[in-house]
Amino acid sequence: MDSDLIKLVNKLQDTFANLGGELDMPQLAVVGSQSAGKSSVLETIVGRDFLPRGSGIVTRRPLVLQLIHTPVAEPAPAYREWGQFLHIDKRFTDFGEIRKEIEQETFRVAGQNKGISKLPIHLRIYSPDVLDLTLVDLPGLTKIPVGDQPSDIERQIRSLVLDYISRPNCVILAVSAANVDLANSESLKLARSVDPQGRRTIGVLTKLDLMDAGTNALDILTGRVYPLKLGFIGVVNRSQQDINSEKSLTDALDSEAEFFRSHPAYRNIAHKNGTKFLAKTLNQVLLNHIRDKLPDMKARLNTLMGQAQQELNSFGDAAIYGDTNQQGSLILRLMTQFARDFVASIEGTSMDIS
Ligand code: GDP
Ligand code: NA
Ligand code: MG
Repeated sequence: MDSDLIKLVNKLQDTFANLGGELDMPQLAVVGSQSAGKSSVLETIVGRDFLPRGSGIVTRRPLVLQLIHTPVAEPAPAYREWGQFLHIDKRFTDFGEIRKEIEQETFRVAGQNKGISKLPIHLRIYSPDVLDLTLVDLPGLTKIPVGDQPSDIERQIRSLVLDYISRPNCVILAVSAANVDLANSESLKLARSVDPQGRRTIGVLTKLDLMDAGTNALDILTGRVYPLKLGFIGVVNRSQQDINSEKSLTDALDSEAEFFRSHPAYRNIAHKNGTKFLAKTLNQVLLNHIRDKLPDMKARLNTLMGQAQQELNSFGDAAIYGDTNQQGSLILRLMTQFARDFVASIEGTSMDIS
């Protein structure tokens, strides 16, 4: 039931994106300074290397990344996981090609220079190895314009990030590096500006392995430094050297688990840290969030359904049989049907919710 519910919500979101509209559905947005480790965190959650990375501003458009848990079909096909973009009708089974397509799409819309665009790239990844999640990767927060960036690049990126995280139903993954003073964390500052009580912000602390000898982040990880209702989760991603030597993600997850198990300060909280625990937490948070929003969503869908129905009626038979409006009316009918199914399925889950 739970994963069905999430799939349904993902489908609805896609439907609206296809129609050129948008519905304010729950999402998880990853926010942090440049090089805090956002892309690394996303990749370890997905379990694949597929995001363009680099030291400069690489992410220049929002990437709306839908992970869809897909069991392996019988008989087993040639590939067990694949990616699909909204802007191109093609299955990508090579994750290196997904990275290239993201780069090309970024160039196509945001230009060859270092400018940014608010227009998101939509990517779905189907895999037996992922939990059902929708993640949004955003350009890193930055202060100093580089190259051809406009002088107000900081403001532009903040505004873009705020577009996503100020939505009340956005769960914020605020990424900070443990080797930078938390008081200077740009992601926490920005998250606090839209979520002052820390109700929908999860703190992710990266680079625990890079802290000065003799120091640790136990106070932060146990919530004694910065209050967040959803807490802080520590992770250890691959270092640049690990990336250069092509250390696999599986090996990285093993070393990460070993890091927490064997560290004298973290041994007792090892089960509440690491990438795997982060992924589990995210799924649970998303689900709770959707549950909280169901009554709201139902009301909004009823309104949309009413509007669509009215529009349908105003088109009349001409819309259904005539040539000019045929496409539009078909979309409206499908949309109305979909919304009706959606509301019906919400009714079906209402007993689980109360
Ligand atoms: P982004 O700019 O926030 O997307 O950051 P990236 O994921 O691209 O990471 C920036 C750099 O930090 C890369 O060289 C990573 O290898 C490195 N890095 C990220 N997380 C960690 C970590 O937990 N430990 C170590 N040692 N390096 C990390
Ligand atoms: Na980077
Ligand atoms: Mg990045």
